[in-house]
Order: sequence, then structure tokens, then C-alpha cells
Amino acid sequence: MTKSEIKNKAKNKSPKKKKRKNPYIPGIAALKFKPTYDWDVNTAKTLYDGFKHPFNKDQIIYSDCISGSGMDQMPDSSVDLIIADPPFGIKFTGKENFYNRKSEYVANGYGEVNENYGEFSEAWISKLPRIMKDTSSVFIFSGWTNLNDILNAVAKTDLALINHIIWKYQFGVFTKRKFVSSHYHLLFLVKNRKKYFFNKIEHYPEDVWIIPRKFQPGERKNSTKLPEEVVSRCIHFCSEPGGLVFDPFMGNGTTAKCARANFRHYFGFEINHDMKDVIEANLEQINPGQTYKHHITMIPNKEELLKKYPAAKKKLFDEKNQ
Ligand SMILES: C[S@@+](CC[C@H](N)C(=O)[O-])C[C@H]1O[C@@H](n2cnc3c(N)ncnc32)[C@H](O)[C@@H]1O
Repeated sequence: MTKSEIKNKAKNKSPKKKKRKNPYIPGIAALKFKPTYDWDVNTAKTLYDGFKHPFNKDQIIYSDCISGSGMDQMPDSSVDLIIADPPFGIKFTGKENFYNRKSEYVANGYGEVNENYGEFSEAWISKLPRIMKDTSSVFIFSGWTNLNDILNAVAKTDLALINHIIWKYQFGVFTKRKFVSSHYHLLFLVKNRKKYFFNKIEHYPEDVWIIPRKFQPGERKNSTKLPEEVVSRCIHFCSEPGGLVFDPFMGNGTTAKCARANFRHYFGFEINHDMKDVIEANLEQINPGQTYKHHITMIPNKEELLKKYPAAKKKLFDEKNQ
């Protein structure tokens, strides 16, 4: 305590609060918000068409990402963003009858990890920093059961953990004697804390993402498909149009589809050859840039914000009438 604070306390006076020059009014900053970077559709397309990569882009290799023909073949500093959703390590076959899923729609040959999950995690995570640029980041999805192994593997690299995001979805597997798991962990890591690319496209981007899983009966897929909204969010915040998004565990090709739809290039591996026709069918549905939008059009408009923040509405009204 300072001398004057002690004196004030003795006098039973509360210490004087410093007056803010501009009093805080919730919503004013949200109304003024602009994304850090924004590209109109033509500029994004030009960047996409013109970007030169040091190896074949827009390709998926149907083999193991860890062994000799995998990530070791990729050049140094060659990818802009990595999105990795590895197998769970829980003896999952991809055919389990969750959510009344019919097994004939689920592709065969899901590559599960039968060896030690810690060793598997170290094997692939240790290969990431070399292929990343100083501006690159990586998002790793993990269930809570194997999170320790992923975090231990990350700790053995120089990658820096920037956020630990919780992705909350709307339903989990029914349980009788424990709570239903309805969230996933998503680690946001970077190679260089000072240089990583981050496009703040929302005024207040929180580290809990509430995004439902899509349940599409009758669609043939590997049963661990991520929602496109989750994957696109990683792409929008952490890559530029024309950049190369790498996914070592392509599954249904969600990363490739979202990258292409947003004027980004992709590259990845999938060990399961049976996924080739599923991935190709998914990619055929989409043209480059098909869902790309100027970010400014994706933020809430003035009317929506003023409804949410009545104090800001009053301030603007008062200013108008002064
Ligand atoms: C959790 S799924 C990925 C799902 C994907 N994110 C999607 O939205 O469709 C993991 C995938 O990794 C594949 N896989 C497992 N081990 C692999 C390895 N060593 N190299 C490449 N792919 C592998 C599995 O066959 C499975 O398709």
C-alpha cells in the first residue's frame, strides 16, 4: 500500500479511482472492429493462382506420413499451416455403431494406432517443425484420453503452445455411470512466437468453439469426419489465400476440401487406400474459392451489434443529437 492509500484507509475514505479519458462502453470496440487482413475475391484468386510452391501442391499421397516416403520427403519450410487430426489410439476401427450409424456407409481400413500412442505421437509431431515456415502454425485435435501423450510429444519439440481450444459439439456417446464427453481439445501451436501469422477476423475470438457435428445419414465416409466449420476456422485465422495447408491424416479429405473452397492449396497423406474414392468425390463437389468471402462480410453487422450492446446504441444516439 502507498502512503496516501494508508492515510485514506485511516480516514475511512476509499482511494480515488483514476478517471478513464474515454469511459468503457461495451460494444464500441466491436462496432469499430476490422479484420487485421482482408482480401476481396479477385485478390484472393490472384494469390491462389500465382502462388509458387517448392513441390507438388493439391495432392494427397496414400501412404504412411511417418515412414521414409512420408513427411521426410517434404522440403524444409514449405507449409503455411498444418491441421492434424490423428487416429485416437483407442482401438477404434471406424466401424463402431455410434449414433445409429450404418456400417455399410463407413469406409473400411481406418488406420488405428496399435503400438504405444506416446511413441506414435512423438514420431509424427517431431517431424513438423522442419517443414514449417517461421510464420506457420499447427492445430492438433485430440480427445482427452490421449491428450497427455500429445502434450508430452509437443514438449519435446520447440513448438510453442499459444492456445488450448475446446471444441464443444452437441452430442457424445450415451453413458450410464459417467458424464458424456461432448468436447474435443484443439492445440494451437506455432514455430516462432514473434513471427507467426494470425489474422484476427473477429473482435472477440474465444477459445471455446461451440460447433455442432454434422450427422448425415447415407453419406459414405470414415466415421471421424470433422465439421467443415471447425477446419475452415483454423484456415481463416492462420493462413493467407494461396497458402499451403498440410494435413498428415487426411481421413475424408475435409482439410483439402476446406482449403480448396477458400482459395488455399493443400497437401497431405492418408494411409487408407479405401478413402481415395471418398476424398476424390468430396473434392469434386467443390471449385477453388467456392465459399470464399471477404472477412468483413462475415462479422456481425451494425444492427445486430447495437441490439446486443444497448449502451453503445445510447452513446451513438447521444452523439448524433449533440
Ligand atoms: C481421425 S481420422 C481424420 C479425419 C479427418 N480429419 C476428416 O475430417 O475426415 C485419422 C485418419 O488418419 C489415418 N491414418 C492413421 N495413421 C496414419 C498414418 N501413419 N499416416 C497417414 N494416415 C494415417 C486414418 O486412416 C484416418 O483416416
